[in-house]
Amino acid sequence: MEDPADLLGPNLADSKFTRAVSAFKFGSTFKTTKRARFPLTIKALQDIDLASDAVVLDVGASDGVASLDAINSLRYSDYFVTDLNTKVGHIFHAEKHYFYDSNNHCILISSPRFIWYNELSSAVWPFTKLTNNTFTSAPDCQQTTCRYVSLFNPELTKNPNVTVQNHNLFEPWYGPKPNLIIAANILNRSYFSDIELNNAIDQLIQNLAGDGYIAIVDSRETERSSIFAVTTKKIELIKSINGGAETQSLVLSRQQN
Ligand SMILES: C[S@@+](CC[C@H](N)C(=O)[O-])C[C@H]1O[C@@H](n2cnc3c(N)ncnc32)[C@H](O)[C@@H]1O
Repeated sequence: MEDPADLLGPNLADSKFTRAVSAFKFGSTFKTTKRARFPLTIKALQDIDLASDAVVLDVGASDGVASLDAINSLRYSDYFVTDLNTKVGHIFHAEKHYFYDSNNHCILISSPRFIWYNELSSAVWPFTKLTNNTFTSAPDCQQTTCRYVSLFNPELTKNPNVTVQNHNLFEPWYGPKPNLIIAANILNRSYFSDIELNNAIDQLIQNLAGDGYIAIVDSRETERSSIFAVTTKKIELIKSINGGAETQSLVLSRQQN
């Protein structure tokens, strides 16, 4: 696994930045991502007739490199790359790197030889005690002691039509109404229950500008995805790749609501 402390280096090569970001886990979700992660979906999205003034909202995008294919090949005027976990606090202390979430909780510690996740439930004896001790002795992360590091890839800032933004996909989107929403490798049952997935899907539908498209991708292994055309009256599955995303039937069931 990549050392998350690589995030802190100057002039970081973009691929190294992505590998460092991918090591982070916030709550139940990893920031794992990579380039060219869902090429079949991008090709299918190119067949959709997006207007040149279209708005694209990409949710759960991690550092944004998986969005680059869509950014470089679709038509739009504004592309929003968003994620819930967009920065980490950092303190270097006693030969260890301590990383903190937005609530200033220590979520990860790294040294040249080890990476510790703050997950007592998955630790086994004698590492339970060791993990517990390591995290309880973490220094406090405060404005004056913590350095905050953006988890968006610097490469995204090169395109003036791309905006990176913090956004929780369970909450309403207050930016320009999107014509296309992309949710890749986030809406799946290893992260969320079906009740949570239904809530997330309902929110995506409400966020669309009346008529629009939703693309849901699962490409942790084989690329599977579902693209839906959504109107106020119905949700239509217009493309299903390799059997479709895990949530395909959940999305289609929302049209009765
Ligand atoms: C596995 S990564 C997928 C990244 C990228 N879409 C891809 O396909 O490579 C999942 C991302 O979802 C983010 N995430 C988790 N919960 C979220 C939420 N409620 N709202 C928005 N993003 C969330 C995580 O921070 C993480 O960056």
